[in-house]
Amino acid sequence: MPRRPSLLLLLVAFVIGMAPAAVSQAFRTAAPLRIGAAWYPEQWPPDKYPGRWDADLTLMQQAHMNVVRIGEFAWSSLEPSEDHYDLDWMEQAIALAARHHIAVVIGTPTDAPPAWLTSKYPDTLGMNADGRLREHGGRRQFNYASPTYRRLCALIVARLAERFGHNPNVIGWQIGNEYTDESFDPATRARFQQFLHDKYKTLANLNQHWSTAYWSQTYTDWSQIPMVNAGGNPGLLLDHKHFVTATWRSFQREQIGILRAAILPTQFITTNIGGLGWSDNWDHYAITADLDLASWDNYVGEGHLQAARNAMLNDLVRGWKRQNFWVMETEPGSVNWAPINNALDPGETRALAWQTIGHGADAVLYWQWCDALNGQEQYHGAIVGPAGRPLPIYTEIQQLGHDLDLTSSALAGTAPQSQMAILHDYDSRWAIDFQPHSKDYDQQQVLLRFYTPLNAIAQSSGHAIDIVDPASAPLDAYKLLVAPSLNVISADLAGRLVAYVRQGGHLILGPRAGMKDEFNAVNPQRQPGPLAGALGGHVVQYYALLPAPLIAVTAPDGATGTADTWAETLAATAPDTRIDLVYGPGNGWLTGKPAMITRTIGSGSISYLGTLLSPDLLRSLLQRAAAQAGVAPPAQHLPPEVELCVRAATSQGKIRRVFILINHSDTPHSATLSGSFLSLLPDIHAVAAGIASSTPSTQIDLPPQGIAVLTQNSEPIR
Ligand code: GAL
Repeated sequence: MPRRPSLLLLLVAFVIGMAPAAVSQAFRTAAPLRIGAAWYPEQWPPDKYPGRWDADLTLMQQAHMNVVRIGEFAWSSLEPSEDHYDLDWMEQAIALAARHHIAVVIGTPTDAPPAWLTSKYPDTLGMNADGRLREHGGRRQFNYASPTYRRLCALIVARLAERFGHNPNVIGWQIGNEYTDESFDPATRARFQQFLHDKYKTLANLNQHWSTAYWSQTYTDWSQIPMVNAGGNPGLLLDHKHFVTATWRSFQREQIGILRAAILPTQFITTNIGGLGWSDNWDHYAITADLDLASWDNYVGEGHLQAARNAMLNDLVRGWKRQNFWVMETEPGSVNWAPINNALDPGETRALAWQTIGHGADAVLYWQWCDALNGQEQYHGAIVGPAGRPLPIYTEIQQLGHDLDLTSSALAGTAPQSQMAILHDYDSRWAIDFQPHSKDYDQQQVLLRFYTPLNAIAQSSGHAIDIVDPASAPLDAYKLLVAPSLNVISADLAGRLVAYVRQGGHLILGPRAGMKDEFNAVNPQRQPGPLAGALGGHVVQYYALLPAPLIAVTAPDGATGTADTWAETLAATAPDTRIDLVYGPGNGWLTGKPAMITRTIGSGSISYLGTLLSPDLLRSLLQRAAAQAGVAPPAQHLPPEVELCVRAATSQGKIRRVFILINHSDTPHSATLSGSFLSLLPDIHAVAAGIASSTPSTQIDLPPQGIAVLTQNSEPIR
């Protein structure tokens, strides 16, 4: 039995600000997939609800669930008064779960401090940007930078780690819950000023990078620098985002340090990232870098599953650590926070889960098992009702659980494989959103415009699209890179991109690329800034477009389409820079000007597309670029309603692939895959459809919202 570290030792780890130890590798082995729910046993104490825990866990087991997350809001039940702990109930809940073969992820409860804490230590309260001090009664009222709050967090986390860090039924830890609110109190502002001092060293340096002669913003003392999150100097706004990232990162690192010193190496550490994956209140690459695995909360909200958008968000999440992830929360059919909390249709909840697994999720947990009888979320979707009896959605989730029983061993250890990547980074996101210049330049929609055709191209050959950080991803792993809104390009990043192209890579820059440097100052050489030399061209001027009229664009081969929202006129300055697209006549400043240019460099190329194109033209342009870059050609016949996700693993020189087909529509559809397959789920049959060019093909008939999970016959999974 390994020796457990004492509480004192754990707190020493906190006090000296211990950086996280090398993260655990053990849990990354091909573990079975997990399905489960957020469960709050503290809301159903056995003395008031006898037998309820066991009844809940029995129903979970009957739904084939094998994991619960507990504890992330339970501070007042774990430490009812200062320094008086009650961890026995949690131990009993974990033991009972084990009897039902259900593993546990423990959430540290630091997102919801108890009332005794906030009243005794008011300096732990956070302040909103409008100067209002937050108060008890909701959650997230704490100040993420407060040393007092962090000390109190360390105490409760150390207790939990000491008690459960060696519990064999605890498989992982979630730190806090959806890091959300920063604080604008005077003490945090002083920390921001110190952060700037550490970064810029001298005020002269800061004044120069922020161009503070503008509007007499020049600072003569660090204490004069304001802390705002809107309307400020763009350099300051970007640095505030960096400060928020660094502050959450140190908040998280303190808990990682305590946990890692005490828990089994097989227990993972994560946090559940909110904001529907798209949030950008801090840099997700930086925060997930310190975690063993990324996890996120995947909700639909109002309306229905938008397949392309949800596919993109899952790929974005996979890109944070460039590895598979967990969906720590998803809706059991509906939420309570959308304008209209409609229910997903029958089959849609299962399709959503399979889509996320197809894009790299190794676990899907529902929020929540059962709604509390009171509290702010009484109307939220749940799996069982207030009396603990299954709601209608239970059967569908049970079916998913059964699906996973049948497929988990085939899927374990597999991940999506990509030949093409989209470059996405938070500095660029922030820089554009501080000054969008057009309310219609919605970066999620811009990304989706490029992602949708690229994903269709990738899926037709059994691949995925990666969405990755240009500064840290191994770019040479990809044949084609597309950067829709890479607004901030430092000299270092430009160097990486040029090296990629010189080694034979193909790079397509989209609108607004390279306008800014890493201080959010305008690059004097115009877009794409430090890449203008390699491109042999640059942007002459940018224009925000009104919704109508659409702008005609034409290619030299006669292909036509339209442009909207944003248009940049380009100039080719090198003799070997080619003009790919031109704005049509009658369009004012745009008339006859290049909209896209390309330069070939060795066997690689760099292109700049200065506008947002209509779907058909963009798709054909990207198809041609993918073919020229050597991306695998289409091999599968898929109707547009059917998505194909392939997860693969290589072992002993042999590749094994699992094909997941999802019919996102409410009518039946068939897909034809090249090869012969074995269906792992009942009711779906893979029927030999003939032999074309010596390759057998297989037809799969999918009912409405139907799912097929297939392995290639020739490569049986043992
Ligand atoms: C999440 C949160 C959960 C719950 C859920 C409701 O953002 O982490 O605690 O509030 O939303 O949809």
